[in-house]
Amino acid sequence: MANLLVLGAQWGDEGKGKIVDLLTPAFDIVARYQGGHNAGHTVYVNGRKIVLHLLPSGILRGGTLCLIGNGVVVSPEAFLKEIDDLRSLGISVDSSRIAVSRKAHIIMPYHPLGETAIEDLRGEDKIGTTGRGIGPAYEDKAGRWGIRAGDLLEPAVLSEKIGAYAEVKNRVFVAYGLPPIDPKKIEAELAPRVSRLAPYIRDVSSLLEDGMTQGRSVLFEGAQGTMLDIDHGTYPFVTSSNPTAGGVCTGLGISPKHIHGVLGIAKAYSTRVGSGPFPTEIDDARGKVIAARGDEFGATTGRPRRCGWFDAVAVRYACRINGIDGIALTKPDVLEGLGEILVCTGYKYRGDLLKTFPAESWILDRVVPVYESCPGWSDSLKSAKTPDDFSRPFRDYLRRIEDLIETPVGVVSTGVERKDTLFLREKLEGLMDVDKVLAASSD
Ligand code: GDP
Ligand code: IMO
Ligand code: MG
Repeated sequence: MANLLVLGAQWGDEGKGKIVDLLTPAFDIVARYQGGHNAGHTVYVNGRKIVLHLLPSGILRGGTLCLIGNGVVVSPEAFLKEIDDLRSLGISVDSSRIAVSRKAHIIMPYHPLGETAIEDLRGEDKIGTTGRGIGPAYEDKAGRWGIRAGDLLEPAVLSEKIGAYAEVKNRVFVAYGLPPIDPKKIEAELAPRVSRLAPYIRDVSSLLEDGMTQGRSVLFEGAQGTMLDIDHGTYPFVTSSNPTAGGVCTGLGISPKHIHGVLGIAKAYSTRVGSGPFPTEIDDARGKVIAARGDEFGATTGRPRRCGWFDAVAVRYACRINGIDGIALTKPDVLEGLGEILVCTGYKYRGDLLKTFPAESWILDRVVPVYESCPGWSDSLKSAKTPDDFSRPFRDYLRRIEDLIETPVGVVSTGVERKDTLFLREKLEGLMDVDKVLAASSD
């Protein structure tokens, strides 16, 4: 089967984890290319909820090789904790199944401290980050101060790098009122983690290349979402990496020729965690109903997610910049029985309809969404055995969304479990082998 990129088409939390886990049995390798443990990818297996943060969501399917690319920022503490947590659930995770790129940057203990200080200084303009040290780790990468996984393998090099960093950066830390970095303390704290992490540190780009040469198929797993992309999202209210398609090549060290298809994940409404413009945000009781029914609380920080109507302008933009071939629409079951459902079809700015998604978040903050009202549906989507079982209003809603985003909806997710998923085969031709996915999933 061809390689597939699965990424978020909105502000994150679209249900990527569920879909990646579902598709994994049809692939040999699952690879993460950006982000870190700011991600929270939820998978339900026979009623048991498992949240993955740093490990690819393919890890729950035995036999799959899970790769963490150079574009990911890795907290050794979070990585080891996730492995321990999965082992305690009886899931086999060891260095034969997981590899971390030698070039992946490490989230050091001082990164979250610096992040909190900066967020506090931003005051009302704070980003509302996950507080995991993601931004500062990418800042050090771009500033060429970063410590990479490969550096952990040579204690003398690591010691020299931490020492040089502390010498310069302690001036900043002290200015922020933070305790200065004590290199010896950090080395001592890291040492036991490094010895456990070392067997996982490999050349991920070559592993992928070798695997693909031998005919092994790859699922590339995005974290966060298009609107959180540092270049193409609602800057500055974004994360510090590229969840969009371009991130795959830089974040794994592979050629774009290896991406054969792109599946975008979108909720039937919108959510956003943290600050930043959100044109379709619902500020009446319906927002609260959706939040409660959709259990919209962050899988990483537990913060309530802001809820809004489906924003076809944003998703159409995501489809364009990522080259999305098909959408997996998640959580329409949450909207059941709402009576009327709104869809944003355009943005008005200073009285004019905008032609493209605005580049400036201060413009996005001022746009007035143009809504179309769609009749709601009252059927239980979860009980549909095939797409033919969907009611007329829901089918009309799907068709309208497809028209607006100019992309087919090929997968409809109707609940949290693997089985709550329907494939619209004719829309997925060339993108994935549905028979193979279904056969493998039922194993
Ligand atoms: P991710 O970050 O994109 O992997 O998404 P999250 O796991 O953070 O959030 C998605 C939430 O929606 C999780 O709690 C999922 O279990 C849940 N979910 C996924 N698909 C569906 C669906 O079709 N219906 C419902 N009701 N919940 C879903
Ligand atoms: P998944 O992979 C939703 C948001 C944070 C904040 C901004 C920057 O589960 O979809 P960061 O800690 O990355 O510097 O925070 O990005 N954010 C997410 N929102 N889902 C995520 O991941 C997110 N990861 C980061 O809330 O607004
Ligand atoms: Mg999430």
